[in-house]
Amino acid sequence: MKKDLIDIFDLSNQEIDELISVATDIVENPANYAEKCKGKKLAVLFYEPSTRTRLSFESAMYELGGNVLGFSEAGSSSVSKGESVSDTAKTLECFSDIIAMRHPKEGAPLVAAGSVGIPVINGGDGGHNHPTQTLTDLFTIKREKGRLDNMTIACCGDLKFGRTVHSLISAMSRYENVKFVLISPEELRIPEHIRNEVLIKNNIPFEEVTSLDEALPKLDVLYMTRVQKERFFNEEDYIRLKDSYILTPDKLLNAKEDLSILHPLPRVNEISVQVDKDKRATYFRQVKNGKFIRMALILRLLGL
Ligand code: NCD
Repeated sequence: MKKDLIDIFDLSNQEIDELISVATDIVENPANYAEKCKGKKLAVLFYEPSTRTRLSFESAMYELGGNVLGFSEAGSSSVSKGESVSDTAKTLECFSDIIAMRHPKEGAPLVAAGSVGIPVINGGDGGHNHPTQTLTDLFTIKREKGRLDNMTIACCGDLKFGRTVHSLISAMSRYENVKFVLISPEELRIPEHIRNEVLIKNNIPFEEVTSLDEALPKLDVLYMTRVQKERFFNEEDYIRLKDSYILTPDKLLNAKEDLSILHPLPRVNEISVQVDKDKRATYFRQVKNGKFIRMALILRLLGL
């Protein structure tokens, strides 16, 4: 296993399977893991807002018996005085055993990883990657459907700026017979590098469409996403595009009985709250799964 997790491609399918089986064992036998990280510290360096990712990292470390330090806002650290990512990471290396970092700039966690000897986990870098969300998504799909192959999965919403989608497509494209339906407005289509380097290059079947309603009946997994307001250059475009897709109970009448609806959250408007009661709504179970898979990841990266 590599020292760091920066990109989902840092993990082989076999390593992902191992993480999923450790996470499953943690769910079933939590007491066996309660002291595994005793005396270890996780540093969380979050330069961008976060609820689930940061707090699930923190609760993962606490449930392993370890401790947590760090910041949830760059303004409260020496970053506001102009300190580089590399110097901040080197400082935290003096106080901790492993770092989880989120940053608005693509590549910042990679820079941190190259500056320190301890493992660095990318908790989301700009519009680029979000590998631990993808581990959460894979673990969730595996638990809900019992498999990661042989399925049609749609990603819907902001496929241009949504980093979770980029990492999820990269990961799911490595399983057998997975077909993608990419649903977005014209302006928010999947970036060229994912289309060319991941999908076309590996002969993965995919279609790019604009209608969610037409795609719904054939889907096994629907991965909804929020339009990424903070990555837009002008607010008018955001306002025009933000409500492009809204999943409601009536739309789901045409969907499969065993569809799984995922969302990395936060949700804005794209899934109506009435859908939450539907057994196919998986997104809050997905949040919970995120803690267990992060526990498995911390253990592996610390060599425990
Ligand atoms: C996502 C993110 O930060 O990229 N959230 C998360 O980590 N669960 C998705 C988003 O912000 O829309």
